[in-house]
Amino acid sequence: MGPSSLLQKKPHAVCIPAPAQGHISPMLKLAKLLHTKGFHITFVNTEFNHKRLLKSRGPDSLKGLPDFQFKTIPDGLPPSDVDATQDIPSLCESTTTYCLAPFKDLLANLNDTNSSQVPLVSCIVSDGVMSFTLAAAEELGIPEVFLWTASACSYLGYFQFTKLLEKGIIPLKDANDLKNGYLDTVLDWIPGLEGIRLKDLPSFLRTTNPDDFMLKFVLQETERARRASAVIINTFQELDHDVLHALSSYLPPLYTIGPLHLLENQVNNKTLEELRSNLWKEEPECLEWLDLKEQNSVVYVNFGSITVMRPEQLSEFAWGLANSKQNFLWVLRPDLVLGDSAILPTQFLEETKERGMFASWCPQEEVLSRPSVGGFLTHSGWNSTIESISYGVPMICWPFFSDQLTNCWYCCTKWGIGMEIDNDVKRDEVESLVRELMVGEKGKKMKNKSMELKKLAEIDVTNSYLNLESLIYEVLLNPG
Ligand code: UDX
Repeated sequence: MGPSSLLQKKPHAVCIPAPAQGHISPMLKLAKLLHTKGFHITFVNTEFNHKRLLKSRGPDSLKGLPDFQFKTIPDGLPPSDVDATQDIPSLCESTTTYCLAPFKDLLANLNDTNSSQVPLVSCIVSDGVMSFTLAAAEELGIPEVFLWTASACSYLGYFQFTKLLEKGIIPLKDANDLKNGYLDTVLDWIPGLEGIRLKDLPSFLRTTNPDDFMLKFVLQETERARRASAVIINTFQELDHDVLHALSSYLPPLYTIGPLHLLENQVNNKTLEELRSNLWKEEPECLEWLDLKEQNSVVYVNFGSITVMRPEQLSEFAWGLANSKQNFLWVLRPDLVLGDSAILPTQFLEETKERGMFASWCPQEEVLSRPSVGGFLTHSGWNSTIESISYGVPMICWPFFSDQLTNCWYCCTKWGIGMEIDNDVKRDEVESLVRELMVGEKGKKMKNKSMELKKLAEIDVTNSYLNLESLIYEVLLNPG
């Protein structure tokens, strides 16, 4: 058998993440895992993100291997050279409207036996919010699996939107409903989310417009999920069993394959070690600083890749951290502060120079795994949350939008590993919550609970690996 016929024998997965940091990272991890299981991989980024990845990681970083290749499609938005987060609703609208045609062209090129050197595409692994890809898989008659990169609890929340509309609970009657206590309404009819309030559900329901794009997008993506051959969630059974049980009635076969970063570490695919997915350049110097600090003595502050804040909110966080007298590592993304770059008060910098460290982007998993990190002040993005859980780090939550509100609620009320900061952040609250987290009684309890979940994550990773194998044999290699 010659090399090209050998190649044809390999299964070929086309992996397409939604074009944002919190989606590209888990998809790349999953793609690497499939590669170790013998799949040929085509990883599809948008042209915008491909350029950013090359810039942050260097020109050789996305060369890939003969059997792990990167391809691009346009995102449909006007061209831009700025290294910043794109507007999420515009991005969702644009990918939904414009990406199917270039995606189909790409698949046709990959499958063109005259010019292509790769095996025929045998399955698609798509982000759960890129459901336009289903049409391409259906046309080719191959399985398509969704990777849901956010939390299971938020997915269950999104599945309630139809019922909330039917019951007339959303859209909001008037903009005052955002402030008059209406969002405190407890919804007592959702198995798996007992006690949840309207305000804890993903933020896209906060609209008075029945034609709001994001509201319709949620309905479309949850409806289409039923057409996928299977759905993967980046979590583990022990953490989310009640929610997963409830979710299974809305979805095709569900596979928990997570925490993906623990699986990736365990498998340790040396040939793909250099492939990383940071859109901003990492500053690893903070790791040396962390290694000089005592155990559980540093609060790590990072608001992920999309959150933005006003300058006065930045100042309240700064003074709260200063007044808490705790050590901190604060990651200030260049586009974190609205309107201007992050300018911190000189007096604050002077007062905290012995115990504060700053970076603009860091290797977060390595930070969270450091023994000196005792707590995480976070925006409650799902990747950050599951990473924090699997390293046993309790959290202070300042959710910004989408699933982050549900993640925060779950961390604070169900898992007992989080405390929420009011959206209208004030320095006194930051100070007292940071102290409580780092040296208080509640902080100690949260730390113990976090350590219990860390152990469960480490044990359950074996089941996640078995789930990956089942997914491969039951779905990805099974065209029928
Ligand atoms: C977005 C949404 O905010 C989130 O709620 C949703 O679940 C996925 O998409 P994002 O803001 O990017 O996520 O947050 P998060 O999900 O936490 O993902 C951020 C990722 O970037 C994490 O994997 C984190 O480890 C990484 N990161 C972040 C770094 O490596 N370095 C940093 O300095 C900051």
